[in-house]
Amino acid sequence: MRVAMIGTGYVGLVSGACFADFGHVVTCIDKDASKISALNDGQIPIYEPGLQQLVAKNVAEERLYFSTEAAEAVRSADAVFIAVGTPARRGDGHADLSYVFQAAEEIAGLLDGFTVVVTKSTVPVGTGDEVEAIIARTNPHAEFEVVSNPEFLREGAAINDFKRPDRVVVGTDDERAAKVMRELYRPLYLNETPILVTQRRTSELIKYAANAFLAVKITFINEIADLCEKVGANVQEVSRGIGLDNRIGSKFLHAGPGYGGSCFPKDTLALSKIGADADTELKIVNSVIEVNARRKRRMADKVIAFLGGDVAGLTIALLGLSFKPNTDDMREAPSIDIVSRLQEAGARIRAFDPVSMDEAGHMMRDVLFCDGPYHAIENADAVVIVTEWDQFRALDLERVKTSLKAPNVIDLRNIYDPSDMKARGFSYASIGRAY
Ligand code: UDX
Repeated sequence: MRVAMIGTGYVGLVSGACFADFGHVVTCIDKDASKISALNDGQIPIYEPGLQQLVAKNVAEERLYFSTEAAEAVRSADAVFIAVGTPARRGDGHADLSYVFQAAEEIAGLLDGFTVVVTKSTVPVGTGDEVEAIIARTNPHAEFEVVSNPEFLREGAAINDFKRPDRVVVGTDDERAAKVMRELYRPLYLNETPILVTQRRTSELIKYAANAFLAVKITFINEIADLCEKVGANVQEVSRGIGLDNRIGSKFLHAGPGYGGSCFPKDTLALSKIGADADTELKIVNSVIEVNARRKRRMADKVIAFLGGDVAGLTIALLGLSFKPNTDDMREAPSIDIVSRLQEAGARIRAFDPVSMDEAGHMMRDVLFCDGPYHAIENADAVVIVTEWDQFRALDLERVKTSLKAPNVIDLRNIYDPSDMKARGFSYASIGRAY
């Protein structure tokens, strides 16, 4: 099959490379000429494990192309994917669909023969109808079907998520379009991936409901963690104790400093707006948004309280800045709130992150970015573990203790054991573990 992928952001690039690896011929298209020329030179604009090799392999095998020109690829495509950004609209949290609609208008005149137009971007319910109307209006002769096919890719694990998904969701009523989609995902039949074909609006909502539910799970366990601290319980054991119930499931029950990233914050907000616009107040989603935002702000208060209530003049080292490990993505990262509030309270910040310091440099002021974890903690009054990168899980704790000015460790990801840390002479705090 021939695929045109409009937008070479995170989702477009990963999906394009994976479809090529499935054996399809894919052209990834982007307006940004410098991005396309970098990609043609083998440079990947995002940090995603395995992506560089996957792109290089499929380019070499002549299945993956990059271009600023949509015409040729769209004309010959069996499926055109719209994978452009849908950021939160400034001010109100609705998803901004202008890039999606622009893409629809642009491809409309180029369609040749029956083509499936697929919305891969996360779009509010009903967007498929609008894309369909735009294409029909722009090119009344076009022969096409608009299909919703949401992505469920986690940053840092995106290739695996694409190639070994729990399910593929395809939203269309049209059998011819469903057939093209099945053919595109045919390699997944080998591992018996369920392909769920639904109505388009249902598919659009599945994406939001999935992300919102995961955000609910995380926020729920975060609140239980707060309670654990107050009543002398251990949240990790609570998670295990409830997660073993198959109806609940053990995943996404890891308490931490609050969720961040490019999806959960944006999609929960957009779902809340979709609800409000449809006269259906989504109280749980609204609470999750509020509780998570408050939690991220409160993490700095936790650090300040642990250090005796006053951090003015103290030096605090942060390990990890990205919103989670294996990504350089800083969007909505808890570290942003933590740094600004600690600085407001008069602390000096040193920090180390394996890949996101360039990105963080655009978002934080007056932070001393360091060469490694031990450099960051040198002479600091405390270290805060903000992101659970593997390299922070096995630090040389003796070296940590001698490098710090005072042996204060605040572990917001629960990667160390409280009793072990205490036995080693640390003053240690974590999340939801009172002992
Ligand atoms: C998410 C969804 O998982 C993915 O399916 C969707 O398509 C895009 O959004 P991503 O944003 O890459 O993916 O990250 P994810 O691994 O889901 O983590 C999101 C946030 O939740 C991170 O800040 C992470 O630290 C936090 N988290 C996750 C927890 O605090 N606890 C958990 O148990 C799991």
